[in-house]
Amino acid sequence: MKNASSGLRRFIALASSLIAAALLGGCDTNTRMSTFDTKGPIAETQYELFMVTVWVTGFIFVIVGAVFLYATIKFRERKNDDRPLPAQGHGNPLVEIGLIGASILLLVIVAVPTLKAIWYTHDFPITEESKLGAWYEGDDLAAAEEDNVLTIRVDGYQWWWGFDYPQLGITSANEMIIPAGKAIRLELRSKDVIHSFWLPRIAGKVDLIPGRANGMWIQAGDSLEDWQEKTGAEGSDEELRAAYALYLQDEIHDYYYGQCAEYCGDSHARMLFRATVVSDSDFATWVSEIKTGHKAPGGMDWDQWYATNAEHPELLTGDENEGLQLFMSRGKCATCHAVNGNPRALGIAGPNLTKIAARQSIAAGWLNHRAEDGSTDVEQQYENFFKWIKEPDVVKPGNLMWKANGGGIGELDELLTDDEVRKISLYLQTLK
Ligand code: CUA
Repeated sequence: MKNASSGLRRFIALASSLIAAALLGGCDTNTRMSTFDTKGPIAETQYELFMVTVWVTGFIFVIVGAVFLYATIKFRERKNDDRPLPAQGHGNPLVEIGLIGASILLLVIVAVPTLKAIWYTHDFPITEESKLGAWYEGDDLAAAEEDNVLTIRVDGYQWWWGFDYPQLGITSANEMIIPAGKAIRLELRSKDVIHSFWLPRIAGKVDLIPGRANGMWIQAGDSLEDWQEKTGAEGSDEELRAAYALYLQDEIHDYYYGQCAEYCGDSHARMLFRATVVSDSDFATWVSEIKTGHKAPGGMDWDQWYATNAEHPELLTGDENEGLQLFMSRGKCATCHAVNGNPRALGIAGPNLTKIAARQSIAAGWLNHRAEDGSTDVEQQYENFFKWIKEPDVVKPGNLMWKANGGGIGELDELLTDDEVRKISLYLQTLK
């Protein structure tokens, strides 16, 4: 009997350590959505708060566990145990008051940094360096905005993200572009149900609630001052700025992964987003490209294209032209989607598709075509467009595009043929 039970015990010990090794083997603190690999003051503050909590709870765990183990071993019943029962106590005021005091102390130790971190996330810092007038290189900024910081309005939809830059007069979706090292104000709203903005390595999480504007600020990378303080860098103003620019370029410019963090319906798990952190000049270029938008196929003027399309549509040949014709007519894409430049594609029910082919994912980050080296995998991109247009209900169950197509009802317009889907996909791939 004795052998069997120690064998069993040894088996349990071995099995549990194997299971622990297998489970912990999946723990990598340096993944693309890791809150341990922070890139910016907000995520850093949240990480520090997390570590305070880990230490406090770890301390409680060790103390309580040690007392528990000590009591269990010391007072266990032994064979032929004829010791009398120890004296039974019914409370000890000193111990009880001591424990209450210790609990309060530990709660305060956790509460103070928690409150500080919450306030920090909402107290927007307006620094000289972050004011639009100080860094924005585009020439189209209203003078009234020069003393303000960049504001992005984030709108949550089932299941995608709208990113508006009201000061710059542009709208984008699902992949936000932001400048490195600048404090940015986010206004978070929802068009339907509650969502939650979470960009783990930079900031999170704040809910987007219908009928109310929530706010937070984010910043990818340290500001010049913080960076200087942390690294102790010295030199002339010029040298410092050059070294700081290098730091931003090497450590902060990147492609970051975000996710809706509040259950919001069928495709909640597929409501992802991306943030590309770029230099000031790349940001200005992107803004101007979004503003200008696209020309008709072959660089044709839009009025001319529409006139030709009305009178001699047969002259507009090739996949790109035919894709655009389908986009505007039978596909009804322009009813819900806008493409800047195109005066008749003004829909707002779905994501703005300006420069959609420059994004490295579609369907709110669910279909990826970013290659490992950071470039766009064009073949994968085509496949993603095709799949998404062909069977949106499979890619993202419950989404509006499927419902608008009459998916599942079968009484509305005939669905697009494979060849039509192919042409629309090829047209979309030209929007880069
Ligand atoms: Cu939006 Cu979950």
